[in-house]
Amino acid sequence: MVQATAPGKVILFGEHAVVYSRPAIAVPVTQVRATAIITPGSAGARLVAPDLGIDVLLEAAAAEDALAAAVRQVQQAAGLAYLPDFTLTVHSAIPIASGLGSGAAITAAIIRALAAYLKRSDLLSNERVSALTYEVEKIHHGTPSGIDNTVVAFEQPVYFVRRQPQNLVETFRVAVPLQLLIGDTGIRSSTKAVVMDVRRQWEADPTRFDTLFDGCGRIAAAARVAIEAGDVAATGRLMGDNQALLQAMTVSSPELDRLVAAATEAGALGAKLSGAGRGGNMIALITAETETAVRRALLAAGARSVFTSVVE
Ligand code: MEV
Repeated sequence: MVQATAPGKVILFGEHAVVYSRPAIAVPVTQVRATAIITPGSAGARLVAPDLGIDVLLEAAAAEDALAAAVRQVQQAAGLAYLPDFTLTVHSAIPIASGLGSGAAITAAIIRALAAYLKRSDLLSNERVSALTYEVEKIHHGTPSGIDNTVVAFEQPVYFVRRQPQNLVETFRVAVPLQLLIGDTGIRSSTKAVVMDVRRQWEADPTRFDTLFDGCGRIAAAARVAIEAGDVAATGRLMGDNQALLQAMTVSSPELDRLVAAATEAGALGAKLSGAGRGGNMIALITAETETAVRRALLAAGARSVFTSVVE
């Protein structure tokens, strides 16, 4: 038996603008994870995801099936015409369609487990896992920036710029741990649909949207400096600035705005949506002193769940 896992993620700064090659920062959320387990089988490659009601043979899976696409990526990268018989079982504690990177994490966990099962250690580096995960992300998200697959594969805070021929991926020092509360609106949101809508708006008014993206990029770059300097208050202020630009891009929503306002009024140092927006999760930067009040305020403002995550 071989088992591998990958974490969830939140985007701290720069979602959407990152698709347009502005800098962004993402961090792993290690306490929610996707797990892939591979055991020897006897009837082809069987893909099982009990939580999703999936139990299919690879050969019968649709081309766009997420689990099958991850398996096929590894098969192709390993140069194998045939795969041995096995059963791949996937579990995930990461809520889907909520901005926490569940798709990328499931894919990365499958890639790691299958590469290990096939004894292909050359496919197990963070760079290879990230690149293979990106290929699957493209099937689901159209024009992903590459930040989600990068942060779940590297499992460290990353400063990311989409670039040709190679993305800039830098890990950096978090001088003072950042305590986050992650609040769920309970509204599922399709990353692909929101990213496509931002593209439509950018195409309709490129000058305005490029200015908004530039602002997000400047905020992400300043946030890196603040995080490296341990300036938590400045980091929080920059989160608020980023949220204002995300609102201008129309990717926030009344529910997200309500949670962000509640967190800020209850003493959070900053709060913003995280991920594609129009639902999903928001993040609030807190301290040990403000945690209880902010958590209460988020729940009172309609958060379906709230959990803590520390960035270090
Ligand atoms: C999704 O986690 C982040 C977006 O910027 C899309 C992407 O980067 O591919 C909205």
